[in-house]
Parts: sequence; C-alpha cells; structure tokens
Amino acid sequence: MEHILVLIYLVASVTFMLGLKMLSKPDTARKGNLIAAAGMVLAIFATIFIYTDSNGNHLGNLGLIFLALIIGTVVGWLMAKRVQMTAMPQMVSFFNGMGGACAALISVIEYNHMMHTTGGDMSAFLSTKGVIILAGLIIGSISFSGSIIAYGKLEGKINDVSIKGQQVVNIGLMLAILVISVMFNMGYVTGSMWFFGILALSLIYGIWFVLPIGGADMPVVISLLNSFTGVAAACGGFLYDNYVMLIGGILVGSAGTILTVTMCNAMNRSLLNVLVGNFGGGASGGGQAVTGSVKEITKSDTAILMKYAKKVVIVPGYGLAVAQAQHTCHELETLLEEEGVEVKYAIHPVAGRMPGHMNVLLAESSVSYDKLVEMDDINPEFATTDVVLVVGANDVVNPAAKTDPTSPIYGMPILEVENAKNVIIMKRSMKAGYAGIDNELFYRPKSFMLFGDAKDTLVKLVTEVKAL
Ligand code: TAP
Repeated sequence: MEHILVLIYLVASVTFMLGLKMLSKPDTARKGNLIAAAGMVLAIFATIFIYTDSNGNHLGNLGLIFLALIIGTVVGWLMAKRVQMTAMPQMVSFFNGMGGACAALISVIEYNHMMHTTGGDMSAFLSTKGVIILAGLIIGSISFSGSIIAYGKLEGKINDVSIKGQQVVNIGLMLAILVISVMFNMGYVTGSMWFFGILALSLIYGIWFVLPIGGADMPVVISLLNSFTGVAAACGGFLYDNYVMLIGGILVGSAGTILTVTMCNAMNRSLLNVLVGNFGGGASGGGQAVTGSVKEITKSDTAILMKYAKKVVIVPGYGLAVAQAQHTCHELETLLEEEGVEVKYAIHPVAGRMPGHMNVLLAESSVSYDKLVEMDDINPEFATTDVVLVVGANDVVNPAAKTDPTSPIYGMPILEVENAKNVIIMKRSMKAGYAGIDNELFYRPKSFMLFGDAKDTLVKLVTEVKAL
C-alpha cells in the first residue's frame, strides 16, 4: 500500500506542476487551477485512507478530519463565490494566512508530540527535526500574522502604522527570534516557555513588518508572504516525510519568490525599497514637475477618431478596475471591430494593483485572449496605431520612466503609447496615479484628455459610436 501512496503523491505533484505551468496563460489558467486542485484532493484522500504509520495503523479521528474538511470547503467555497474581482488580493492574503497558521500549528503539535514521547527530554530537540519544527513555527507564524494584517489593510480596516526607528525594531525582533531559537535548539535555554515565546515574537514580527508598508505595495508583500507559507508547508513535508507536502510547499515557495521578483522588476524597485520605501502609501512623489496645458477632447470627437481608425489599442489600468468598466470596454471593442477596426489591448505587467489584474478583469468580460498583448510585443506596434485609448492607467504610460532620472519610476518599463498617432487619456482629473507623480504624456502634442469616470465615459462613447 505504501508504494501506491507514493505513486499517488507523485501523480499529485505532477498535477501541481502542470497546474502552475497552465496558470501562466489566461486561456489555460482555469483548467490548470482545476487540475492542481484535483491533484490536491487526491493527495488528501490518499493520506486519509491509505497512509499507515510504522505500526501499520491508519489515521484516527476520521470524524474530526471530515468535519474540518466540510467546514473548510464550505467557508472557502462561499468566500470564493462572493468575492469581487477588486477584492481578490485580500482574499488571497486571508487564505495564505490560513496556510501559515496550519504550518505553525503543525510545529506546535510536533513539539508537544516530541516532548510527550521523550518525556520532556530537551536533548531530542538537538536534531534536524528540532530545527525544522522551529523553522516551520517561525516562518508559518510570520506568514499568518503578516497576511492577516495585509488582509485588514486591503479591506480598509487597518491603517498604515509606522514609528520612528521601525526598521531598527524589526531587525531587533528578527535577531531576538534567531538568537533565542539557536539557544533553544542547542539546549542553552530550556522549557516550553521559550518555545511559545518564539511563537509570540514571530507573530509580533509578522504584524510589525507589514503594518508600515504602503497600502498599494501589499500585492508584493502578499506574494512574499505566500512564498513564506510555501516554505513553512515544505517544513511540514520534511517532518512527516510526506513528498507531496514537500513538493507542494517548495512549488509555492519558489513560485511566490519568482512572482515577488517579477513584480519588483516590473516596477523597477528592489524588494528592500518595497519593504521600507512606503511607496504608494501617499508619501511618494518626486520627479520633475510638469508644466504646460493639456488639450481636452469631446466624446463625439473621440468616437469619430476611433470609428474611422484602422487600428485602436486600448490600455487598461487601475481606473478601469475601480470603475468596473471592463464589460463596457468589451462592448466598445466589439462595436469597433464590427466597423472593421482592428482592436487590441496593451497589457503592462503591473497595470492595476495585483499580478494579472487586467488579464483577469478582461477575461471576466469575455475579451478574447489573443487580443491581450503583452508590453514587449505591443510596444513596436504603437507606431502603426491610429488611436490609443488609455482607460484609467497612468504610471504604466508615463514617459518619465525613460526620460527623468529623478523620477521614482525611472527605469520601469512602460507602454510606449506616445509613438501612436493619437493618444486619448480617459480619467477623472489631472490627479497622479499610484506613484504620486505628474505625467508628461498628458501634455504632449498628440495627447488628448477625456475627463470622466471610465464606465460613464465608455457607456457614452458606445452610444456615440452607434449613432455615427
Ligand atoms: P495608476 O498609475 O495608479 O493610475 C490609475 C489612474 O486611474 C489614476 O491616475 C486615476 O486618475 C484613474 N482613475 C481612478 N479611478 C478612476 C475612474 N473611476 N475612472 C477613470 N479613471 C480613474 O494605475 P496603472 O497605470 O494601472 O499603474 C499601476 C500602478 O500600480 C503602478 O505604479 C504599479 O507599480 C503599481 N502596482 C502594481 C502592482 C501590480 S502587481 N499590478 C502591484 C503594486 C503596485 P483620476 O483620479 O484622475 O481619475
């Protein structure tokens, strides 16, 4: 039976890898998610029904296990069903926190188990198992408390809090956790008080580390905490010699790390800058002030320009998501295509506030995947584009990223919309975006401002195009 279990774990691990691979493309992402979920269900039921310990005993407490499974499934299913697309980051954060809590609880249980089986002999802790129990405890609790704070901040229930010398306190806390853990593991300090002290300090560290980070930087932090949870789960895999848990944890850990690095690169910021920079928390700004006057365009002129264009590229941004304008945007796209206009969407890797934000929103409103063109592929096409319609995007089209070394976004790759024949920017005011900086694009000769809420304006544009 053990061989069958190992084989099932292998199959489940392959589904995780396949799922991850398929998640990298919008048209296969849903299927990939289902395949990986099916692999997880298989691994869970195989563990419940096939696993036996060294004495040949199957798992006990089946009633409790199934009760927990049912409660977890119902709560998770309801949350996922009800969540709004814009509230996705906080839900991911909440679920991630639960993963961290599980990993920390495994460590608490295994510590008690070890103390019980050795009659409280602390020397048992001087082992690889002891180190892994501590690693799972620390990383899992940081991930748990940090994710819950991130959830609260994104829900608008918790404000950014920072004190002078915050970083020093954080480094002090981290050092205290490490020193006490090493001393505990080597037997210099003994007693459960120290073990639970490490747990408490780790929980405090998680809270304290996330509290000051600028609200809009949360997706990067959530991704980082996600990778922590993966590593913590992998510790559980080590403890139980459970391959599927180990592989699953490593995959989550590495995928989370890669995503964190990708997001930082796409914003041209180091992880350290994200963690200590308070960027996007309202305190940023900088860069050269832009002066001059902008030209406004009416909805009817915009409709004429677009209807008689050969090629239109729509640049969706955070404002599109806030206004929930994706469906109307798709309606405009369909209308223009019926008139023989070629329409594409230019997708910047960090447009919006979470990875893949624009892809998910547009897919939700049935925009065909082949119309979503990544930044590197669409940039050379702007020169042959008649009209670029920027809908609620700002930083991702700001030329200062290429021209102004004093700008906080200098070096961030951008959508080079200024190469198109006409650029129409749809937003409510001249206010800055996430980075808090002026945008010189608005003042360029080929640029026109179309002021208003993205959804209202798009609805009126659709009417105007239809009336032509
Ligand atoms: P932003 O630069 O934040 O600009 C969004 C613009 O939308 C704002 O200037 C705002 O102008 C406008 N807007 C807001 N509500 C609107 C509405 N109802 N109707 C019309 N316009 C509206 O967005 P972006 O260009 O998508 O750039 C994303 C930014 O987020 C980048 O700086 C990126 O680094 C950062 N970020 C992204 C991520 C990920 S992974 N996506 C993670 C962390 C940070 P008005 O107020 O004038 O309307």
